[in-house]
Amino acid sequence: MTDYCRGFEDLTQEIHEPDLPLEGDWPDWLSGTLLRNGPAQFSVGDQDYNHWFDGHAMLHSFRIGDGTVSYRNRFLETQSRTEALEAGEIVRSEFATDPCMSIFGRIMSVFNPKPTDNASINVTRLDDAHVALTETPIPVAFDPETLETVGVVDYEDDVDAQMATAHPHVEPDTGRIFTYQVGFGRQSEYQICGIPPDDASRTLLASFDVDRPRYMHSFGMTERYVILSEWPLTVDPTDLLLRGEPFIENFEWQPERGTRFRVLRKSDGEEVARCTTDPAFAFHHVNAFERDGEVVCDIVTYPDASIIDELSLDRLRSDDPSPGTGNLRRYRLPLNGGTPSSHVLSDERIELPRIHEDAARAQPYDTVYGIGNRVEGDFADQLVKIDVDDGASETWYDDGTYPGEPVFVSHPDGDNEDDSVLLSVVLDPTADQSFLLVLDADSFTERARATVPHAIPFGFHGQFWQ
Ligand code: CO
Repeated sequence: MTDYCRGFEDLTQEIHEPDLPLEGDWPDWLSGTLLRNGPAQFSVGDQDYNHWFDGHAMLHSFRIGDGTVSYRNRFLETQSRTEALEAGEIVRSEFATDPCMSIFGRIMSVFNPKPTDNASINVTRLDDAHVALTETPIPVAFDPETLETVGVVDYEDDVDAQMATAHPHVEPDTGRIFTYQVGFGRQSEYQICGIPPDDASRTLLASFDVDRPRYMHSFGMTERYVILSEWPLTVDPTDLLLRGEPFIENFEWQPERGTRFRVLRKSDGEEVARCTTDPAFAFHHVNAFERDGEVVCDIVTYPDASIIDELSLDRLRSDDPSPGTGNLRRYRLPLNGGTPSSHVLSDERIELPRIHEDAARAQPYDTVYGIGNRVEGDFADQLVKIDVDDGASETWYDDGTYPGEPVFVSHPDGDNEDDSVLLSVVLDPTADQSFLLVLDADSFTERARATVPHAIPFGFHGQFWQ
């Protein structure tokens, strides 16, 4: 059962393999690059990082075209990694790891903060650059062909924040990026920022004071609104400075506060609705849209925030059952001040959710794809496809293998799912290799695969660019 632990071992070898061996019926129309991000080194010297989210960022590219697939992987050369390798020990604080620091060092770091630039979570485009993202507002640009690190993108503005989501939204018509940030301080604030498609300057669309900021990994966006889902995992900002604990361990689970949704109008930043409902926790918004005077918001939820501890490396590498994935839950948020409601859309468990973004984003839609659980207690061991209308699901699995986030790629000439595919990097611990799976989106069956000569540690998010 614990074969999946191979996915939490270091991969330090950087390779370029121009022609991966292919099997199956490789779609000849499939052309573009899948770029994926995730941690690949979980220790420095004799020090271990604590959490899956803390390992050094590595980029993986699959360039697909003319019936061939080339693969390349490369560490992101961040300050966080460089300083650690030079010192032979962990230097910068990560999500759930804090370097051993004297009181003096801690006080100095308050005056001269060195937030992590270990951008291991996601990739996106920013001002014509490809960038890697984590939860600090420090995007790291890289060359999409060579995966060479270009460097930190300095925003050309004076917006001050310490935390940012690694899941910005891109507005379909304008290409404008919307992001959510937190400024921690004597008076902390939430910020919603807009970034034009050809610029690296953030404009503050909305900001408002908050005494105990909550941990939010992602947020929702419809045509007209931005939705903040404030799970009751809250922090006293002074604890971040003074307690000397890793970042996330300063947050407290306070279920009595419930989950508070704020609906903010994109055009003027005005809060048009605020409502509170039962406590829950989530990392990932799936999709959101407006319908009949309400905002419908689909999110992968957990009963509480214990999933964060359950994704610590000690726990994941132990013989304890793996934590499993979440529930696809639909929240209906009335815009007229009424009571919100929610219900679970399917019995099928899911995480790392993706949709057919070009067709479904911010619109009523049919289907969510993600990773899920087939064998109780195993790490995510299957891919799932859930119909949001009736909760029916289909699954793909290959015994003993562990698939990652499925990225939807639509046929360039098709406007429905029929000809489209999903791309997922699957770990095969027995073969000590990973492979790129091409799954038919409609039948949810394997179409082809390309085998990589090494095992790729479990990653988080990726994007396909045609
Ligand atoms: Co995420």
